[in-house]
Amino acid sequence: MATLRILLLLFLQLAVLFFAVEPANAQGLKLDFYKKTCTRAESIVRKTTTQFISRAPTLAAPLLRMHFHDCFVRGCDGSVLLNSTKNNQAEKDAIPNQSLRGYQVIDAAKTAVERVCPGVVSCADILALVARDAVLTIKGPFWDVPTGRRDGTVSRGSEALANLPSPFANITQLKSSFLRKGLSAKDLAVLSGGHTIGTSHCSSFTNRLYNFTGKGDTDPSFDPNYIVQLKKKCNPGDVTSLVQMDPGSFKIFDQDYYTLVVKSRGLFQSDAALLDDSQTKAYVKLQSTTQRSTFLKDFSNSMVKMGKIQVLTGKAGEIRKRCSLVN
Ligand code: HEM
Ligand SMILES: *[C@@H]1O[C@H](CO)[C@@H](O)[C@H](O)[C@H]1NC(C)=O
Ligand SMILES: *[C@@H]1O[C@H](CO)[C@@H](O)[C@H](O)[C@H]1NC(C)=O
Ligand SMILES: *[C@@H]1O[C@H](CO)[C@@H](O)[C@H](O)[C@H]1NC(C)=O
Ligand SMILES: *[C@@H]1O[C@H](CO)[C@@H](O)[C@H](O)[C@H]1NC(C)=O
Repeated sequence: MATLRILLLLFLQLAVLFFAVEPANAQGLKLDFYKKTCTRAESIVRKTTTQFISRAPTLAAPLLRMHFHDCFVRGCDGSVLLNSTKNNQAEKDAIPNQSLRGYQVIDAAKTAVERVCPGVVSCADILALVARDAVLTIKGPFWDVPTGRRDGTVSRGSEALANLPSPFANITQLKSSFLRKGLSAKDLAVLSGGHTIGTSHCSSFTNRLYNFTGKGDTDPSFDPNYIVQLKKKCNPGDVTSLVQMDPGSFKIFDQDYYTLVVKSRGLFQSDAALLDDSQTKAYVKLQSTTQRSTFLKDFSNSMVKMGKIQVLTGKAGEIRKRCSLVN
C-alpha cells in the first residue's frame, strides 16, 4: 500500500514536471495528427510543395518567412493567409508583408488535400508543413512538424506591425520580441540563420548606406567595402530592387549567414545586432568557425519550438475551407 502511494506520488510529480516543461500552448499537437482522419494529408502537401519548389526554388525562402510571420502574430493559426475585407486590413496587407509570396503553393496544397478529405486539415498546419517541405526540397534541414493546429478567424494588419521584429531593431528589442513568444536568445541567434536563403528589398537596409543618423553618414558597424558594393545595387530611395542576403549562396541552406555576420556583412541592423549580446555573439562566432557546425540541427529544434507558438487546438478556432477566407 505504501509503495503504491509512493508510486502514485512519483507519478503525479512527473506529470506536474511534464506539464511545466511542455509549453502549455503546444498541448494537442502531435506527430501525424491526421493519421486516422486524413492519412494522405502530409504526403499530398509534400508532393505539391516539391512540385512547386523544384520549378521555382526561390519560393522556398518566402514560404519559410511566411510561417515565421504567421507564428509571431496571434500564434501559428494561419492568420497570415487571410485576405483583407471591406472593414479590416489583414496581416497580409501590412507593411512587413512586403515580399511575402508563395500563397499559391498553400492554396494548391489545400485544394489537393480538400479533394481527398474536405474540412479536416487546417491551413495553419498546411503552412507549417509547406515551409518545412520547401526547405527540404532545396536540401535544407528536416524538422518534425507536429500537427493539429486549427485556424484562427482574425487577422489584423496593426498586429503584424506590433509583433514582427523590425530589421532596424537593436538586440534588446529583438530578444524581448522573441521572449514574448517564448523563444530564447539562442532561438533568436539560430532562427536568424534563416537569412542564409532569400532576398531583401533595398528599403530594409538603405538607411545603413546613406543616412544612418540623419547626417548623411553610414552605419559604422557595417563593412565599408560591402557598403560600396551595396550602393551600386540600391539607390537612396529604392523600394523595388532586391539583393541576395547571402550573396552567391542565397539558394543554399548553409551556415554562411554566420560568416557574413562576423565579417560585419549581415544585411540588416537586426543581423548585425547579434554581435551586441554575449550569448548571441558567442553563437554566431561558433557557427562561423566550427568545421562541424550545429546550425542545421539547432535550426530544426528552434523551428519545432516556433511552430508551437500560441497554437489553437482541440475545439478552438476552425478548419477553414479556403485559406484566405474565414468560413
Ligand atoms: C530576427 C528577426 C527578423 C527580422 C528583423 C527579419 C527581417 C527580415 C526582412 C526585413 C526581410 C526582407 C524583406 C524584404 O525586404 O523583402 C527578411 C527576409 C527573410 N527572412 Fe527574416 N527576419 C527575422 C527573422 C526571421 C526568421 C525567424 C526567419 C525564419 C526562420 C526568417 C526568414 C527570412 C527569409 C527566408 C527571408 C527571405 C525572404 C525572400 O526571399 O523573399 N527571418 N527578414
Ligand atoms: C484573396 O486575395 C487574393 C489576392 O488579392 C485573390 O487572388 C484571392 O482570390 C482572394 N481569395 C478569395 C477566396 O477571395
Ligand atoms: C502588402 O501590403 C501592401 C500595402 O501595405 C499591398 O499594397 C500589397 O499588395 C501587399 N502584398 C501582398 C503580397 O499581399
Ligand atoms: C534599443 O532601442 C530602444 C528603442 O528605440 C531604446 O530605448 C534602447 O535604449 C535601445 N537599446 C540599445 C541597447 O541600444
Ligand atoms: C538625412 O536625414 C536627415 C534627417 O532625417 C534629413 O534632414 C536629410 O535631408 C537626409 N539627407 C539625405 C541625403 O537624404
